Amino acid sequence: MSGLRSKHLLGLEGMTAEEINLILDTAASFKEISERPVKKVPALRGKTVVNLFFEVSTRTRASFELAEKRLSADTVNISKAGSSVAKGESLRDTAENLQAMKIDVIVIRHGSAGAPHFLASILDASIVNAGDGSHEHPTQGLLDMFTLREKLGGIEGKRVTIIGDIAHSRVARSNIFGLVTLGAHVTVCGPPTMIPPRIEELGVRVETDLNRAIGEADAVNVLRIQLERQKVNLFPSLAEYAVVYGINRERLAAMKPGSIVMHPGPINRGVEITQEVADGDRAVILEQVTNGVAVRMAVLYLLCEGGSKDKSPSIEDVVGEKSDSRVN
Ligand code: CP
Repeated sequence: MSGLRSKHLLGLEGMTAEEINLILDTAASFKEISERPVKKVPALRGKTVVNLFFEVSTRTRASFELAEKRLSADTVNISKAGSSVAKGESLRDTAENLQAMKIDVIVIRHGSAGAPHFLASILDASIVNAGDGSHEHPTQGLLDMFTLREKLGGIEGKRVTIIGDIAHSRVARSNIFGLVTLGAHVTVCGPPTMIPPRIEELGVRVETDLNRAIGEADAVNVLRIQLERQKVNLFPSLAEYAVVYGINRERLAAMKPGSIVMHPGPINRGVEITQEVADGDRAVILEQVTNGVAVRMAVLYLLCEGGSKDKSPSIEDVVGEKSDSRVN
């Protein structure tokens, strides 16, 4: 396959296995760049990327900015506080003003589902969804799949259990869309109040018994309890959640040998996962973060180069370009 069908990355819903594998394969080529003494190639020299973060973020925001810089793009960071959004400017006006400055890509995180899709409908720039409400977080889904592929040797036929607040989780939705497309067997598990009705229609199995859900898994992806998105209490207390659904030493011991524990971060230590599991040798949480940079480099590269009128350099040419401290 020569490239992605869209110039935007709005979600993993509807992406083909070929497109997802293209991103993962490209990320595999890019990963080594971050190990170099000079972590930079000129692939996106001359491109301008705006990181528009209307919600808090540590991993995604830093990861996108590093990915852009390692590809030599020019970057601008805008957050809600400190921008004219705080004075009441609309999303449309903010975006149209940015486009008037001739930018190429907007990476947007927004509390409202559909905000990236709205920008894609009114702007010429490529739009990348960095998390929209409870809808999707496609680059998190991609970096999770990249990590699964690295750790398990593939995704097709593997059993992945996603545990926690499925109803409020954009990470869960992007993982489900991507994993089901690549042929994984996905189980979701959590309090019944946190499992959306008819989620089986997305191709997943629902299991309310945690021990059954994790016993057969090749990987468990432990979600953060998102207290900020809950309008009502969906379980009696954090302490009770930890007892019934938390991943601790005993539950880890009941998992298959060689299975791995993932978490998108940020972690509520002692709630959905204990300190010793999060920091233990079965957890791949910081490797997920490392892989996130390579995956975001791949997404930005493919979106920009896919739309280029010039003949794009091959990935081998890009990765093979000598890192050069003079490249800005
Ligand atoms: N995983 C994730 O999206 O983390 P941040 O909210 O810190 O970006």
